[in-house]
Amino acid sequence: MTVDSGNTKWVVACTTDDIDEEDVQRFDHEGASYAVYRLSTGFYASSGWCTHEQAHLADGFVLGGEIECPRHQGRFDIISGKALSPPVCVKLETYPVRVDGHEVLLGLPALAAKDAA
Ligand code: FES
Repeated sequence: MTVDSGNTKWVVACTTDDIDEEDVQRFDHEGASYAVYRLSTGFYASSGWCTHEQAHLADGFVLGGEIECPRHQGRFDIISGKALSPPVCVKLETYPVRVDGHEVLLGLPALAAKDAA
């Protein structure tokens, strides 16, 4: 884990081999849960829980840059987090991702990450 000058805490979420293209994986860290996606354009991350009710998006389906919730099939844009179809109307929190060698790192606000612990 490293903290950069922008006060972002970078944590290893997985390796590049862990997620197939057009797929999603759950990552839990310090009491919070995230969804890490692999698209043809790279890796992305969002909060893990749907903003509608209790369902984890890592159990959902990646469809052309969108994640479909497994519970009521609400859809979000993976890159922006924007809610795209009912019943979801509140966007997902998204997080920066960078790849260092084979490691996929998630950028979390250092203070928020500490508070979630
Ligand atoms: Fe995700 Fe309802 S819990 S759409």
